[in-house]
Amino acid sequence: MDLRLNVFLLALCCWMACASMPVEIGMLPPPREVSLTFRNDFCVTLAWRPPQNLNRSTCDLQYYITEAFGQEVGQYTRTDTHFESCLDMERGVNYTIRTQPKNCGDMTDSKDIVRGASPPKEKLVKDFECIYYTSGSMNCTWSPADQTTDLQLYYWYKNMAQPLKPCGLYLYTGGLKTGCHLHGDFLNVTNLTTEVFFLINRTHGPSTLQNKFKRTTRDNMKPFPPKLNMKKKEGGMLELSCDPPSGFDPSLDYWDYTLRYRTSKDSNWKEISPVRCTALVPYDHHFQYRVQVKAICKDICGTGASDWSQEECYGQDQASDWSFHLTLIAIPVVITICVILFLFFLKKLRVLILPQIPDPLKLFKELINSKEVSTDAGSNLMESKIWEKQKVYVPERPELCVDVWLVDQDP
Ligand SMILES: *[C@@H]1O[C@H](CO)[C@@H](O)[C@H](O)[C@H]1NC(C)=O
Ligand SMILES: *[C@@H]1O[C@H](CO)[C@@H](O)[C@H](O)[C@H]1NC(C)=O
Ligand SMILES: *[C@@H]1O[C@H](CO)[C@@H](O)[C@H](O)[C@H]1NC(C)=O
Ligand SMILES: *[C@@H]1O[C@H](CO)[C@@H](O)[C@H](O)[C@H]1NC(C)=O
Ligand SMILES: *[C@@H]1O[C@H](CO)[C@@H](O)[C@H](O)[C@H]1NC(C)=O
Ligand SMILES: *[C@@H]1O[C@H](CO)[C@@H](O)[C@H](O)[C@H]1NC(C)=O
Repeated sequence: MDLRLNVFLLALCCWMACASMPVEIGMLPPPREVSLTFRNDFCVTLAWRPPQNLNRSTCDLQYYITEAFGQEVGQYTRTDTHFESCLDMERGVNYTIRTQPKNCGDMTDSKDIVRGASPPKEKLVKDFECIYYTSGSMNCTWSPADQTTDLQLYYWYKNMAQPLKPCGLYLYTGGLKTGCHLHGDFLNVTNLTTEVFFLINRTHGPSTLQNKFKRTTRDNMKPFPPKLNMKKKEGGMLELSCDPPSGFDPSLDYWDYTLRYRTSKDSNWKEISPVRCTALVPYDHHFQYRVQVKAICKDICGTGASDWSQEECYGQDQASDWSFHLTLIAIPVVITICVILFLFFLKKLRVLILPQIPDPLKLFKELINSKEVSTDAGSNLMESKIWEKQKVYVPERPELCVDVWLVDQDP
């Protein structure tokens, strides 16, 4: 064979080898024929074919997919050639897909292929919200974007046969449909991850406008508030306790609790978060205690909390009552005034009511010094009367007798 021909063939071989080489050592080719299709009202299928020019037995591949609803981004990898997802279409969705080397020499990721579905252009309803409040029941509410009265809500969950079920019980506000009460085994508490899909459309009108939503039970927990119990304990403590929220299997350890209380003395709430729903708080019987409790979903349960329970009262307020304070001040004041008045009048009346008891010492002195006794100008009526009495007891007759004897001596 001609040497030049040999060299040419060799060079051609080398060139062909070299030409195919960049694929194997550079960037992987992206997947082909990427399509996004709606499998039903809520679920999409992203499908593609493997890239060309790759020897699959020498180059192992996988596909990296992102699913974005605005800021929320989910990441997935697949080795087969399709990806399925049931969506919340409120905000639309964007997918990116790229080829990644699993075991493929020095190859790097391919560029991204992007596919998306846009959100509805017009909104039939706003503020679509659901609360999962008891096992088997969920209420969803919304505010209509206009005065449309012919809104229809349909719902669906995975494993439910199509077609969608219409809402069985609408909730109304002022004649407009503003909510739907859902009930069924699919909302069973043992399956908190249940995803429920909603479609709202109009029964009349030219537009085929639809709004679609997805809600997960575990993200919308809102049980009824727990029932609160209060009991006075020895040692001046008040025991607070509660029963788990009704409507859910009490054996499921789903709840954390927050208790708060305030007294008639201090109107600021004091919060306590016990592990179990029981707590001891120092109790002062002078004040009334007002207590509330709420249940909060644990991680295993999801997110959400009950409202605060109604205020439960314990004890009677004795201190903050204004009349109590008033009485507290008024009683001593009144007593003091009464005592002063009493003493004042007593001094005045003593003279009339209680005559002065005669002083025996004084009487004795008067008996001795009877001659010197004379009616004292300064003495009062009482004293002079006593004095007159004394005269009765001390007669001066003997002296008169002596005088008579003196007269008898005359010649
Ligand atoms: C792929 O590579 C394997 C192993 O190197 C080889 O046996 C096979 O022939 C190649 N197939 C193609 C289509 O190139
Ligand atoms: C999808 O991508 C487009 C273009 O980048 C962007 O305008 C839109 O907001 C994205 N949508 C979502 C739901 O992320
Ligand atoms: C949910 O709706 C039903 C039906 O109107 C109603 O009886 C129930 O009280 C509602 N639940 C809550 C938590 O609002
Ligand atoms: C929940 O589902 C389980 C199994 O399907 C069933 O045994 C249980 O009775 C259901 N509970 C309620 C509250 O529906
Ligand atoms: C809970 O949901 C999962 C996924 O939706 C399902 O596979 C499972 O059978 C459900 N369990 C019960 C008890 O319903
Ligand atoms: C509204 O949606 C339901 C469920 O997909 C469908 O059966 C019904 O025909 C729709 N109504 C209109 C007016 O499009």
